[in-house]
Amino acid sequence: MAALSSSTALSSSSVNGLHQRIAFSSPPSFLLPQRFLSAKLSLQCRRNSHPNMVLMEDGAAVTRPTHVKNETPLNELNERLVLGTSLEESNDAAGFDMNGDESTVSITVVGASGDLAKKKIFPALFALYYEGFLPKHFTIFGYARSKMTDAELRNMVSRTLTCRIDKRENCDEKMDEFLKRCFYHSGQYDSQENFAALDKKLMAHEGGRVSNRLFYLSIPPNIFIDAVRCASSSASSGNGWTRVIVEKPFGRDSESSAAMTKSLKQYLKEDQIFRIDHYLGKELVENLSVLRFSNLIFEPLWSRQYIRNVQLIFSEDFGTEGRGGYFDHYGIIRDIMQNHLLQILALFAMETPVSLDAEDTRNEKVKVLRSMRPLRLEDVVTGQYKSHTKGGVSYPAYTDDKTVSKDSLTPTFAAAALFIDNARWDGVPFLMKAGKALHTRRTEIRVQFRHVPGNLYNRNFGTDLDRATNELVIRVQPDEAIYLKINNKVPGLGMRLDRSHLNLHYAARYSKEIPDAYERLLLDAIEGERRLFIRSDELDAAWALFTPLLKELEEKKIIPEYYPYGSRGPVGAHYLAARYNVRWGDLGVEQ
Ligand code: NDP
Ligand code: BG6
Repeated sequence: MAALSSSTALSSSSVNGLHQRIAFSSPPSFLLPQRFLSAKLSLQCRRNSHPNMVLMEDGAAVTRPTHVKNETPLNELNERLVLGTSLEESNDAAGFDMNGDESTVSITVVGASGDLAKKKIFPALFALYYEGFLPKHFTIFGYARSKMTDAELRNMVSRTLTCRIDKRENCDEKMDEFLKRCFYHSGQYDSQENFAALDKKLMAHEGGRVSNRLFYLSIPPNIFIDAVRCASSSASSGNGWTRVIVEKPFGRDSESSAAMTKSLKQYLKEDQIFRIDHYLGKELVENLSVLRFSNLIFEPLWSRQYIRNVQLIFSEDFGTEGRGGYFDHYGIIRDIMQNHLLQILALFAMETPVSLDAEDTRNEKVKVLRSMRPLRLEDVVTGQYKSHTKGGVSYPAYTDDKTVSKDSLTPTFAAAALFIDNARWDGVPFLMKAGKALHTRRTEIRVQFRHVPGNLYNRNFGTDLDRATNELVIRVQPDEAIYLKINNKVPGLGMRLDRSHLNLHYAARYSKEIPDAYERLLLDAIEGERRLFIRSDELDAAWALFTPLLKELEEKKIIPEYYPYGSRGPVGAHYLAARYNVRWGDLGVEQ
């Protein structure tokens, strides 16, 4: 029986939540996601004859824990993690050896020569390694058509490990150790032979251990299916789990998305597919549920009774630089609204899930999406950035991008008013705004509350009562913060009120760096935690909401409102908000 080393420490002070991970100061010899402790196991799992072992459809064998009370002391919990099921029992029951020494995880980054792999995936894997979150036996393979040796891949990866870790202690040493575990295999995405050759290399590294395999599809969507077909038939695990992370875009509309899901499901079961939306891995998005469901003061206010409107705002201060070819085929509504902002909206608005189990949360999100009113063209404003010169610097127009046609009508900005027709949110506008090449880079959620009825202090506010309402701001990035705007008496003998902030500024409150979203999501995929990945019915509901609007915009060739690069975007967004008596919160004084 493998035991947790004495240096093993649980990372959090509470033992009841599912989000805690076991932080190992050295690589774990036994990796059991702690979140399984109180989670209901997936409805899709098949039970075998052994009461403590459950086989997932993706081939994972997970131990079913004995009941753990909220107040279980950490040391006892630690022991239960290890002792909940004896190794012999597990082996007999599942045919797998759950001992970390006997199992291995192979991560294949398909499209390893690309932008995302360099920018996000390898740095995230390194950060996980640095923090001790990767299992003892792991191997990383880069796979792409480009010809590269292992040494060249390592060189490429080391040059782009510009992650948060690179200023930390022992980084060079750890990086060397990490790079020794990285290999490269060149192959075509539609070649079973090439994937079979990869399989041989993976097996050699796995050395006869139980093999668990994660494929990260970091390639353009038109080759997803080929790659999945070849990986599943020629390189999937024979005795452990096989999982595939799929990057967006998941289609362009309902039809293409459904076709992609259907094709993927020819080769994979739903619980092997991890559709990534990296916004779900962002710290403050993950915190949304904690904020709502673990603080008495918020949940009772979280409805039409107290909330006037909700704003979901995404802005970037750069254009499509380098990604114009991709972007022109999708536009900002598909790129940001239909996925990142809509996912945040669903989490924000959902009812309390039965538990933190992936299926319970995803069930609630789907209900929100399915309760949404079809989007109308008149509730949407689109824009496209045009060139602008400021301080002697000239910024390009969207259509100056060589990969974009000169007459492109693709929106680089959109604002929309959405409604959830259910008892909790009836009549509350959810305003979304997303744009590239704007004046600032920021993602935030703004919750504007109603007026205080019969407010004794109304006369202190003058005529603009809207300015006196409370606003909760969750700044997802950059400079993460949660602040609540309140009215406060200015100290002194008079009775003057001002707007002040109760401010939880992450950099001031927490010394620890915030992990990149990809770190959280990669670790979740390795651990088999699906809560932050998109289920196919969620995807269908999201497309059902946006597809008719997108078709109408394209069929009617709606001309976007042009806005200068670096500006606040089209003025139409303000008229749209005003129609619903809303003032965009990001124009306020704290900006
Ligand atoms: P790239 O365009 O850089 O493509 C990744 C790799 O795929 C390339 O290095 C290339 O490798 C191969 N490839 C590219 N085009 C083709 C083609 N037409 N046919 C066959 N192979 C091709 O993509 P990214 O790395 O930017 O993105 C990967 C995925 O992630 C995409 O689905 C993208 O939409 C998504 N994504 C990307 C983000 C980003 O910031 N980059 C953000 C969010 C999602 P080789 O030639 O060596 O085979
Ligand atoms: C991606 C979009 O999904 O998210 C990009 O395709 C966008 O267009 C990016 O720039 C923003 O992600 P982040 O994490 O940098 O805010």
